[in-house]
Amino acid sequence: MLEKIKATASYIKERINATPEVGIILGTGLGGLVKEIDIKVSIPYSEIPNFPVSTVDGHAGRLIYGTLGNREVLAMQGRFHFYEGYSMKEVTFPVRVLKYVGVTHLFVSNASGGLNPDWHVGEIVIISDHINFFPEHPLRGKNENELGPRFPDMSKCYDERLRNKAKLIALENNIVVKEGVYVGVSGPTFETPSEYKMFRLLGGDLVGMSTVPEVIVARHMNLKVFGISIVTDSGVPGEIVEISHEEVQEVAMKAEPKMTLIMKNLIQGI
Ligand code: HPA
Repeated sequence: MLEKIKATASYIKERINATPEVGIILGTGLGGLVKEIDIKVSIPYSEIPNFPVSTVDGHAGRLIYGTLGNREVLAMQGRFHFYEGYSMKEVTFPVRVLKYVGVTHLFVSNASGGLNPDWHVGEIVIISDHINFFPEHPLRGKNENELGPRFPDMSKCYDERLRNKAKLIALENNIVVKEGVYVGVSGPTFETPSEYKMFRLLGGDLVGMSTVPEVIVARHMNLKVFGISIVTDSGVPGEIVEISHEEVQEVAMKAEPKMTLIMKNLIQGI
């Protein structure tokens, strides 16, 4: 795996001819941050050796190198989900590659179902912690000591300083943000009302089908992580209505400008 990671990173380094410090993974309906990037190089995933190819609607599937304000960034427009059939090693491979390109910070966004009864659809939530409910672990198997330790600490997954800065940016721009725990599940089914209730009882504020594998791998390699989520539907008893992927995308896109503002300012200030 290490050789593949290094080969892919070399390919990207050659194409971009730079060492960006910031990696970004953009979630469902949240690709709009790309509009803010002054794009220098855009590489479709299909051209990147060893990269899986993204299949879900709403995921363009390209790696973008450019500047966001004063920062050089490498952004993944479209991620690889476990439910698409990829193994956890495939889902998280791009994060490994980002690290070997030189990235030190990883910013991730996603859409999620809301579990916290005090919150509403459209809410922007800074992720403070996660609960891993995926049926396969990205670090299962032989550990590559060069990448990180066998038993990585997970007590400080989501960087506190970045979270505090994000809250300050939100306050200064009159954007309401919440902070909470993201439960990562396999999908592709949305939850039944009983499952939403269970995840709430277990300590979750949000539930979604991504992010946790990438964050685990990022922390394995000691990258600083910031995660932000948009509540696109409610899993709160009495509020649950039928939902579709299209509706999730629509709600995410509506809330996106505010999320983009937070991310952009945060990245500039790291
Ligand atoms: N459940 C799981 N994943 C999701 C949801 C949800 O309700 N909304 C957006 N992604």
